Amino acid sequence: MITSLRGMHDLLDDRARLYKNIINTCEQVASKYGYNYIQTPTLERTALYKRSVGESSDIVGKEMYEFSDKGGDSICLRPEGTAGVVRAFLENKLDKAGGIYRWYYHGSMFRYERPQRGRQREFHQFGVECFGIASVYEDAMLICMASDILKALNIKATLKINSLGDEDSMQNYKEALLKYAKRVSARLCMDCKRRISTNVMRILDCKNENCQQALSGAPILLDALNDKCKNEFETLQILLRQAGIKFVIDSNLVRGLDYYCKTAFEFVSDEIGAQSAIIGGGRYDRLISDLEGHDTPAVGWAMGIERIMEILALKSEEKAQKDSIYLCALDEKLLKNICFLANQLRAFGFKVLISYDIKAPAKQLANADKINAKFFLCLGLDEAKNNEIWLRNLENKIDKKVPLDDLISELNEQN
Ligand code: HAM
Repeated sequence: MITSLRGMHDLLDDRARLYKNIINTCEQVASKYGYNYIQTPTLERTALYKRSVGESSDIVGKEMYEFSDKGGDSICLRPEGTAGVVRAFLENKLDKAGGIYRWYYHGSMFRYERPQRGRQREFHQFGVECFGIASVYEDAMLICMASDILKALNIKATLKINSLGDEDSMQNYKEALLKYAKRVSARLCMDCKRRISTNVMRILDCKNENCQQALSGAPILLDALNDKCKNEFETLQILLRQAGIKFVIDSNLVRGLDYYCKTAFEFVSDEIGAQSAIIGGGRYDRLISDLEGHDTPAVGWAMGIERIMEILALKSEEKAQKDSIYLCALDEKLLKNICFLANQLRAFGFKVLISYDIKAPAKQLANADKINAKFFLCLGLDEAKNNEIWLRNLENKIDKKVPLDDLISELNEQN
C-alpha cells in the first residue's frame, strides 16, 4: 500500500469538520477587524525565504523542502506565509501605491522537522498581515484579534510579549550580547556556538539548560531599548490591559525568524506538551525594504491550526451537524422519482443525501442514523401511487405520511 509521507496527514470526517469550523471562526473575527482574504502560491523561489526568514534561522538552515524544478530553478514549498504575502505585495507594486493593506490567509506550510504531537511536516496556518501602519496601536489590535479568536474557540493560552527594539537599539544590544556570548561560549551548545556568528539574538530562546544557565547574566534586551521603543512597548501594555488581555513580559522571546523588530509575541498553551506556541507573530518593519521595496512598516501573526485542533479534540469530539435529509426508495422503479425530488428539496435549501440501494426500511433507517441525518424520507410504491411520502423526524422519532405537495412546508415547520 502506498502511504502518506511521514508528518503529513489526511483530514477527514470529524477532524475535517473541526478544521473548517476553526477557519470559519478565524475568518469571521478577522473580517470584523477589516482584514480581507489573500491567496499566494504554495511554491516560491528559495531566495525569497533565504532573504526574509533568514539564512541563520532553523527554518531556512535545516527545515525547508527545497529542490530544483524541471527548468533548474531552485524552489521550495513555503515554510510559512509571511514571505509569500510580502512578495505578492511587492509584485503588485502596492509599496509604491502606498496606503494600508490588511490581509488574512490560510493553507499548508511545510517544514522538515521531527514529527511529534502538534508538530507536522505539512501543517496549516491561519495568518494575518498588515502593511502600511507603523503605529503600535495596530500591534495591539492584532493581538486583540488573536485573543478574540481564542476566546471564540474557547481556548485558554498565555500571551508572552517582548520588544526587540528598532534597528538602533537592536544593533546596540547585539553588540553587548555578542561580547557576553563570546565570554561564555565554551558553555554553549553547538547550535548556539553557531548562532554567535550568524544571529546572536537567537541564543536567548535556546531551550538547552546549560545555555540558559550560561546566559543567566546576559544583558537584558528590554533594558537596551531606546526611549521611543520603550514608550511604544509601554503603550502596547496599556492597550492590552485596557482590552482585559493578560500577558507576561518575556525578555528572551526573540522568535525563530530573522525578520522581526519591535513587538514580538506568542500565545502558548501547555495543553499539548510543554509550552507549545499556538500563535506567533510580531512587527517586521525592515523586511519590505530589505526585499527592495519602498520602506513600509508591517506587522502580523500566524496560528498553527493542528495545534488548535489538538487542544479542541481534547475537549470534545466534533459531531456532524444534524441537518440533512436521508432520502431512499423501496423499489428500483422509484429511483428516478427520488432523484427528481432531491433536486426540488435542494432548490429550497435542504441538504439531501440519496440512498440508491433498495433495502429494507430498518436498514435504511440505520444508515440514516449513521450519517446523523435529521429527517428520513422513504418512497414506496403505495406512497408514490397516492402522491405522498413517508417522513420520520429522527430527533423526535415521529412518523408521518406527507402529501408531496405539502412536503416543503412540513419540513420547514419541523426544522
Ligand atoms: P511561526 O512561529 O514560525 O511564525 O509559526 C506560527 C505558528 O505555526 C506556530 O506558533 C505554531 O503554532 C505553528 N507551527 C509552526 N511549525 C509547526 C509545525 N511543524 N507543525 C505544526 N504547527 C506548526 C510564522 O510562521 C510567521 N510567519 C508568523 C508571522 C506572521 N509573523 C508575522 N506575520
